[in-house]
Amino acid sequence: MKVLITGGAGFIGSHVVRLFVNKYPNYTIHNLDNLTYAGNLANLTDIEKKPNYKFVKGDIVDAAFISELFTKENYNAVVHLAAESHVDRSITNPLEFVMTNVIGTVNLLNAAKELYKKDATSFKKFYHVSTDEVYGALGDTGMFTEETSYDPHSPYSASKASSDHFVRAYHDTYGLPIVISNCSNNYGPNHFPEKLIPLCINNIKNNKPLPIYGKGENVRDWLFVEDHATAIDTIFHKAKLGSTYNIGGHNEWTNIDVIRLLCRIMDKKLNRETGANEKLITFVKDRAGHDLRYAIDASKLKNDLGWVPSVTFEQGLDLTVDWYLHNEEWLSNVTSGNYTHYYEEQYAKR
Ligand code: NAD
Ligand code: DAU
Repeated sequence: MKVLITGGAGFIGSHVVRLFVNKYPNYTIHNLDNLTYAGNLANLTDIEKKPNYKFVKGDIVDAAFISELFTKENYNAVVHLAAESHVDRSITNPLEFVMTNVIGTVNLLNAAKELYKKDATSFKKFYHVSTDEVYGALGDTGMFTEETSYDPHSPYSASKASSDHFVRAYHDTYGLPIVISNCSNNYGPNHFPEKLIPLCINNIKNNKPLPIYGKGENVRDWLFVEDHATAIDTIFHKAKLGSTYNIGGHNEWTNIDVIRLLCRIMDKKLNRETGANEKLITFVKDRAGHDLRYAIDASKLKNDLGWVPSVTFEQGLDLTVDWYLHNEEWLSNVTSGNYTHYYEEQYAKR
């Protein structure tokens, strides 16, 4: 199997690449990433020299490049994670999200379709990694199932919903073998510190305000990133072609409660007085179009394929805080933007 993983230098992609490279030494794994602000090869230093791994720098929006790459490499499967992923950025620059998330996905689908047309036994599947945000927002009750109608509200979720529709359309129209998963909020090591949890870990560490949008009443369903990676592995290998799976941690928290828990964990770890970090909480202007509540019903994944998360939120958050406290260089490189030089130094001369 020669598998192309896109967006493998990002947060979730790097955990998926690591899992596949280590678990399947007989697979060749190519990691295609354009190294935007969110891509960082320092996420993959432990596996970068493995014989079954190769990094490919490139832009999924560049149709000619993608077509040439697929023709040259003749991939057997694609796991597609590359995307613009931050809702707040999508509010200030929606077009960037249309380009990467919609056009980029269609470019990959076209290239995969050509390989499938050439040899339907050789090209096995196109796995599209998507989000629960496509389903819109819930009230106080209910959960998203695979049958919930799409109702995206942010430019980010609208672009991901559009990409999901294109993936299904390529299955229905051209017979392309596809699988889609829609996952809830991830957290864990290597999470870019513009997102709620790593932003607050960094700010607590530096005694800076913790910006909570609105009243902090919005609810998210948090999943440890390594559990998302094992779910992707399970779905990639076991799911019926053409199917969709929801992935979630059955772990709903209001934002304010997440941050209070984080404050308590970090009071202890930083030897601060109990309650010291909570004083940093600052309520700020709400996000435009802020979805009230997400909750994933992941019972199809559990019942069909036997996947369940491996850690509780408290365990995962504890591991995550430790990772950030022990990886100060990673954090300061990311917050200062220095990490872009890592690519130039390590790869450009090869
Ligand atoms: P991320 O922003 O951390 O990483 C995205 C990666 O894609 C980066 O390495 C970036 O360099 C790369 N990329 C962006 N544009 C590219 C382009 N034009 N060409 C090639 N590479 C490009 O994102 P993430 O949080 O790891 O999310 C990965 C995927 O999972 C996304 O598709 C996202 O929608 C989905 N998802 C994320 C979450 C979450 O909580 N973070 C939850 C559910 C689904
Ligand atoms: O649900 C899955 C989605 O989760 C993924 O598809 C997205 O790629 C990922 O970024 C994430 O989206 P969210 O918008 O839920 O994540 P974020 O960390 O930006 O925000 C989490 C919650 O915290 C949300 O309700 C907004 C709030 N928030 C966020 C930030 C950055 C704050 O209150 N303050 C902040 O500073």
